[in-house]
Amino acid sequence: MHQKSSDILRLFRSETGFVSGEAISRELGVSRTAVWKHISALRKAGYRIEAFPSRGYRLISAPDILDAQEITTALDSACIGRRLECLLQTNSTNADAMRLAEAGAAEGTAVIADAQTAGKGRRGRVWSSPPGVNLYCSIVLRPPILPHEAPQLTFLSAVAVAQAIEQNSTCRPTIKWPNDVLIDGKKIAGLLNEMSAETDGINCVVLGIGVNLNMTADQFPTDLRSPATSILLESGVRVVRSRFTASLLNALDRLYTDFLATGFGPVREEWQRRCNAAGRRMVMCEGGIDRVSGLFAGIDADGSLLLKSDEGVIERIVSGDVRIL
Ligand code: BTN
Repeated sequence: MHQKSSDILRLFRSETGFVSGEAISRELGVSRTAVWKHISALRKAGYRIEAFPSRGYRLISAPDILDAQEITTALDSACIGRRLECLLQTNSTNADAMRLAEAGAAEGTAVIADAQTAGKGRRGRVWSSPPGVNLYCSIVLRPPILPHEAPQLTFLSAVAVAQAIEQNSTCRPTIKWPNDVLIDGKKIAGLLNEMSAETDGINCVVLGIGVNLNMTADQFPTDLRSPATSILLESGVRVVRSRFTASLLNALDRLYTDFLATGFGPVREEWQRRCNAAGRRMVMCEGGIDRVSGLFAGIDADGSLLLKSDEGVIERIVSGDVRIL
């Protein structure tokens, strides 16, 4: 977006009523004709702007676009999302964020795309990423923790996504170990963290987050392994994507600040409060074969799943697919 158009939007948002053409031209240092041209460009981009010759211009509504200014308007974070790269289309925001991180990007840098052509899921799977409906976002972190502690950050992402869903809809998400966010048992978000590290320290972690916001039933791939859904499908209400994105970045910022100050404890508590397995029996399967089962007994300090066997022995599950019995 042109800087002057962006300045006009900022001006609209700082006023409650109409802003005169004269005031805009004075504030921006451009002619009235130039103001009119920028207003036309904004209208073409989907902004509804009312105009009355005697009163000036007023912003009625903004389009559902993932634009840095739209997101920043609702951002109150100290670090996460303070630098935003908003793209119309990319291969994978995780790949972009890792490239930026390796080139020295500051902690908190976020890459957001309207569509991905090669969205990456866990275990080499594809993450379906159609345009105009969802959020695909990757955040660069440089946490002062050891590489083996990095999985804790996935739990942080899961809690942040759950909080953003709670703030922006009537949906009440649960979390499935280790990192699927579900609504009514169906997957609504996926998290993929990638790390560049030496044995004794982390260079960077990229938190990759995909959330199905306004996706309709016909937009889901037909070959999904497990049921998936979106906020629109669950609540019947469309989510304003830029507002959701700002909520998510704000939530991540709060949780990450706490995490750096006090460690994994608060995140673990928030995660366990939303875990779909509380009080349930679970089984871990590997290569299609059921391996270990037991009663859900929480997660430990490094994020491993704890299952209590019938003999009362606590089994630590570090990775694998689990299901509730
Ligand atoms: C999963 O398989 O559950 C993880 C899916 C992660 C998808 C997100 S979308 C934004 C980011 N960019 C990617 O290529 N993948 C992650």
